[in-house]
Amino acid sequence: MIKEVRGIYFSPSGSTKQLISSLSSKISKEMDEMCVSDIKWELNDIIANPIKEAKTFNEESIVVFGVPVFAGRVPSPCIPMIKKLKADNTLAIAVVSYGNSTYGDALYELNSLLEDQGFKVISAGAFVSNHSMFGKVAKGRPDAKDHEILNKYANLCANKLKRFASTDIQELKAKPAPLKIKGSMPTKPPMKMPIRPSASKKCVKCGLCASVCPTGAININDPTKVDASKCVACTTCISICPNGARGFFGPIAGASGIAFEKLCSKRKEPEWFI
Ligand SMILES: Cc1cc2nc3c(=O)[nH]c(=O)nc-3n(C[C@H](O)[C@H](O)[C@H](O)COP(=O)(O)O)c2cc1C
Repeated sequence: MIKEVRGIYFSPSGSTKQLISSLSSKISKEMDEMCVSDIKWELNDIIANPIKEAKTFNEESIVVFGVPVFAGRVPSPCIPMIKKLKADNTLAIAVVSYGNSTYGDALYELNSLLEDQGFKVISAGAFVSNHSMFGKVAKGRPDAKDHEILNKYANLCANKLKRFASTDIQELKAKPAPLKIKGSMPTKPPMKMPIRPSASKKCVKCGLCASVCPTGAININDPTKVDASKCVACTTCISICPNGARGFFGPIAGASGIAFEKLCSKRKEPEWFI
């Protein structure tokens, strides 16, 4: 019997958190109606609380797992954390948020990674959010239309989950039909970001950014120093800085922003595979 719906997210600038929180909460409410006992709804932020130990799920949980798209891929810091999860008959939903450019192979990759850990992924969705690197791209997304679509998606997922959770047909329980997700399993290492966040004169060297950086790239004693070989440009440091001292500065970042604004100006809508 399903006892909990758990949203797990990696969300450096907060959009994926919003998406997973909203989706998992709606699914939990809809599942609640079919169950005798109350369903627990939980959220796990894997930047604030990284997965360091093995974590096991059974058939009493539903996991809604979300990551942002980085250069068409699952962000590299998420991969060792996903590999710590072990699922036994656990139903899951794979979700990516992307900045109206392309989600590339990220959704396919996330689905494969979760399946490798034993999750039974019943659906995978890609949603558009404001671009965390270039703020003028997809500004205002997710908007009212996105939220409406998200509600519809939550309803479709809940209906499929209910069918799986309540069926007595063992074969159906054991094997959801494979999802035909766009993309393929990447074979190359992820692209190194050509631009990275840096500190402006507003930096007071409080070290908050260094304490939350998921890759340990920022020097705790002098946060203006960044280990370029570790930084994945995720933007956690930009979001956490209380002084607005970090950002993508310099001419390359400026020119890339202008180019991206043009390239990604055509509105893309959420997509899913179910
Ligand atoms: C390093 C980096 C790479 C990105 N690559 C892509 C991409 O390939 N395609 C895309 O549409 N958006 C891309 N984005 C935008 C994010 O995927 C998008 O803004 C996402 O919603 C951010 O989620 P968050 O707010 O949870 O951090 C990238 C952002 C960053 C920081």
